[in-house]
Amino acid sequence: MKTVDNVRKIGIVGAGTMGSGIAQVAAQSGYEVILNDISDSFIQNGIAKIQKGLGKAVEKGKMTKEEMANIMSRIRGSVSLEDLANTDVIIEAILEDRAAKKQVFASLDSICKQDAILASNTSSIPITELASATKRPDKVVGMHFFNPAPVMKLVEVIRAVQTSDETKELVKALAVKMGKVPVEVNDFPGFCTNRILVPMINEAAYCLMEGVASAEAIDQVMKLGANHPMGPLELADLIGLDVCLNIMEVLYSEYGDPKYRPCPLLRRLVQAGRLGRKTGWGFHKYE
Ligand code: 3HC
Repeated sequence: MKTVDNVRKIGIVGAGTMGSGIAQVAAQSGYEVILNDISDSFIQNGIAKIQKGLGKAVEKGKMTKEEMANIMSRIRGSVSLEDLANTDVIIEAILEDRAAKKQVFASLDSICKQDAILASNTSSIPITELASATKRPDKVVGMHFFNPAPVMKLVEVIRAVQTSDETKELVKALAVKMGKVPVEVNDFPGFCTNRILVPMINEAAYCLMEGVASAEAIDQVMKLGANHPMGPLELADLIGLDVCLNIMEVLYSEYGDPKYRPCPLLRRLVQAGRLGRKTGWGFHKYE
């Protein structure tokens, strides 16, 4: 492809929290967006989230109703990957399932334009492995956004073993066009942010399990003593306890280092279905 100036249409696969957030950011940056998922109800949920987010900006006077309508008009839902045939960059943001992601990458590879870039928002699956599921591994790259995607500035740009310089530079420039700050990292388990952040959350779960302090106190010490905007347990509730556990499992199995062993309390809460904000209860309870 060329350069970032050739990018007009962006495909997003997965309309969950991250996918819809990324779709919002892309549409707000002027791109035509196709938001794909396996069912219409998932897409409608994703679009409703975007409408709610933009609606709040209108209420606060940060955006006009017309601007919101223009942004929404750039987003089109789709339940078929074939609809992404004409997109220039595709960002995959489906659930963290290795086999499912590889399947999506193989399908996108056969459907999308030869010069289209295939990016993944995975939080833990090696980009090198996803690249190997395609016949264009040099055009596969990680674009890791952070929750809430419309707010968080960082995009970790992850370079697989096979990613070309051209691809890496293009997505870095794209992240800038989307109002984000790209930071380049290599393809190691958990990449860079999650390798540091999620073991901290895991340690906070150990502190709770061992009775070092209450959940409220653990969050308070990190907010007041380390200036974190949220405590680690509140943050786990925002990310999803299942996602945190999954990242710890990846770090533990890929590095084989006991320092990454997942906290048994984290595992129990996931088994109990206490996944955080999305289920109304994780380390904390939500209305
Ligand atoms: N979606 C969209 N916008 C949101 C939002 C959401 N879910 N939550 C908050 N915002 C917006 C608000 O509307 C507000 O916008 P404004 O400045 O234009 O009025 C702005 O963000 C600030 O929100 P609030 O005043 O309500 O609250 P805070 O100042 O406490 O900020 C926060 C909320 C941005 C979530 C902040 O607490 C924070 O930065 N928390 C840490 C988040 C974090 O670490 N995320 C990374 C998670 S790890 C990850 O995603 C990687 C994955 O692979 C696991």
